[in-house]
Amino acid sequence: MAAVGVSTPRRDSEPKVRGTTRFAADAPVAGLLHARLVLAHEAHAMISEIRREAALALEGVVAVLTAADLPLVATGRGRQYEPLAREEVIYAGQPVAMVVAESEARAEDGAELVEVELEPLEPVLDLEAAGRPGAPRARVTGLDDADGSDLGDAHATVSAAGVGQEEELSENVLDTARLSNGDVDAALAGSHVVVSGRFTTPWMYQGYLEPQTATAWLDPDGRLTIWSATQATFSTRDALARLFGLPGERVRVASTPLGGAFGGKLMIIDPLVAAAAVVLRRPVRLVMTRSEDMAAANPAGAEMLSLELGADADGNLTGIRTRVLVDRGATDDFGVESIAAMLSCGSYRWAAHELTALGIATNRVTFGAYRAPTAPPAAFAVESLLDELAGRLEIDPLELRLRNVAGEGDRSPAGPPFPIFGARDCLERLRDHPRWSARGELPDGEGIGVALGWWPGGYEPAAAACRLDADGNLTVITGAADMSGVETGFATIAAEAFGIDPERIRVVTADTSSAPYAGMSGGSKVTYTVGRAVERAAIEARERLFEVASQELEIAPEDLEIVDGAVRPAGVPAKGLAIDELASRILQFGSPHPPVEGHGRVSQPQAPQSAAHLSHVRVDRDTGAVTVLAHVVAQDVGRALNPALVEGQMRGGTVQGLGWALLEQLVHDGHGQLTTGTFVDYAMPTAGTVPAIDTEIVEVPVPEGPYGAKGVGEAPVVAVAGAVANAIAAATGGVRVRELPMTPERVWRALAAHPRPGGAPDRAPQSL
Ligand code: MOS
Repeated sequence: MAAVGVSTPRRDSEPKVRGTTRFAADAPVAGLLHARLVLAHEAHAMISEIRREAALALEGVVAVLTAADLPLVATGRGRQYEPLAREEVIYAGQPVAMVVAESEARAEDGAELVEVELEPLEPVLDLEAAGRPGAPRARVTGLDDADGSDLGDAHATVSAAGVGQEEELSENVLDTARLSNGDVDAALAGSHVVVSGRFTTPWMYQGYLEPQTATAWLDPDGRLTIWSATQATFSTRDALARLFGLPGERVRVASTPLGGAFGGKLMIIDPLVAAAAVVLRRPVRLVMTRSEDMAAANPAGAEMLSLELGADADGNLTGIRTRVLVDRGATDDFGVESIAAMLSCGSYRWAAHELTALGIATNRVTFGAYRAPTAPPAAFAVESLLDELAGRLEIDPLELRLRNVAGEGDRSPAGPPFPIFGARDCLERLRDHPRWSARGELPDGEGIGVALGWWPGGYEPAAAACRLDADGNLTVITGAADMSGVETGFATIAAEAFGIDPERIRVVTADTSSAPYAGMSGGSKVTYTVGRAVERAAIEARERLFEVASQELEIAPEDLEIVDGAVRPAGVPAKGLAIDELASRILQFGSPHPPVEGHGRVSQPQAPQSAAHLSHVRVDRDTGAVTVLAHVVAQDVGRALNPALVEGQMRGGTVQGLGWALLEQLVHDGHGQLTTGTFVDYAMPTAGTVPAIDTEIVEVPVPEGPYGAKGVGEAPVVAVAGAVANAIAAATGGVRVRELPMTPERVWRALAAHPRPGGAPDRAPQSL
């Protein structure tokens, strides 16, 4: 029985393509009401009045709710505590009221009739200025609420000290983190070459197909039930119970199939629909429109990164000092400073480092997680400078990375040593790739660049159960939201562990009232943790089945095997008993056998992931347009349980990375208004702009992972922009763009500021 390592299609593909998947918006609920939000039209203002009479007069409008109407009992600084603005508006697009009506159309009409009177305040929009002492505050009311949420830990867990007393900062600075080791000043002073640079990256939208959606109702016994497009069933349940002051078992959360999430779907609208259902005692659904989702949901924040780093004459990295300013937007939702600091030096061995990150509040939406949060900006910065360092040292850029890349046992930037880590193997795979060898033979205007990215991965305990049914099929039950095809992976794991064909495994995502515990689907850890629990559960079920078969066949369990759907004495096919026959003997009146079930529980160590990219671009010197001609991603996946799905993640991450590199940005104007709030203005990669992507699966098995597997979702997005930036420099004789996305205008300006010397052909830095 070999299920592991075989490519099979995702189980959710066909229903999604056929349109039969039941998403959160498709829950059939009798008596359903529809909600529509009223969004603030100023970025910073005091609310002087909300007039709801006209909306309420509209037939079909059931209620217009404002912050005071929501039955929330808990306070805190995260957005969940304030799903509607109280007295102060802190970003354009912030929900200030919610209209609930008998139809979506009525709710929308009602929302247009709600009059919100605002008294504008100066918006705080300049990220750097906002952090300086004496800066005007992005928020002036409600500052004494309890501590921020711990959502940051959901994606990756890092501990770091903060910036101490030595630096005066404004009150907009929500949090700081500093990781240091050794004497950076001395290391830089003693370096043969030192390079530095300042990089900026924009607000980024996850671009999932399904907008934020949830449906909530009260069961007849008063239990609050939510069907939600959420990445996290249990933490949503616990958060809602806390918000409404209910015992956990009075809230039931079901995660519906996700139409993409990428980190963005966590407690954004659940409190709103739940509150409306509690107040109105009727089922309520909210589906954000695309523009509402872009303006008011959960995009990743802009960043400014300043780095200075050096190497000795032999190309050994010496010291690095970084300072990352993270635009946290208006509410203190997702603390990313530790991870932003840690990632800012890449996965290399530095003799000394000082890594600082500051999270700064501004009057823009709110920083949300997006696939390896803060990692793409970090890799763009540090990988650009490493290439420059290689050029100055006249060392091949891949060789420089290979000389310094961290491996198992090396100190990680946060302190503890790296566990098994395949970054070197990824770099070696690129070094041996024909596209890298051919980099010296490119036509004028083309270049090849490489970059390395890593992601520490999250960790969270997980459990899973499985049950042998009367038809001889195995049902696997978890509480993990399926964001990325993990159910297909669970089937592969259970099939391998139990010993039957994957087609005989059914996978069920249960709601919080009955599911074994599972953490959030995020941090690239579901297959690694929940999958491991599935493996254990299936192994236990197999043992139980052997106990039964041992009695039926009168042979010791250790002499049994499962082959072709039958339990048999090892090597004696004629004596086999089909599993469905056994199962039906077990599950009947008068059966002497207990049901065959298994339960697996795990708590696993962190398993960091890495991916290296090679990008081949052509730069048009007249327009600044960059065309990606070819792209290679080499990723350490531990073990590819289902290579087709792994390659899908590698391609998807690379494509999103190309969006970071060349196309996407949420632009807020000088008043804090979003000017790219539709898919017409927000440029995402499309089939026409994406080249053929060559996926190189690297397998460095993780001992704790199911069959050696580790997470694969986040690593492939990290270093794409860095590789493209290095390719642009290679194509243009060293022209550097330090701002994402690298639009034609920015590339053209950089080219203009750095004319080609004497019209000589460009020379790629790696061919020096
Ligand atoms: Mo999160 S970006 O879903 O780990």
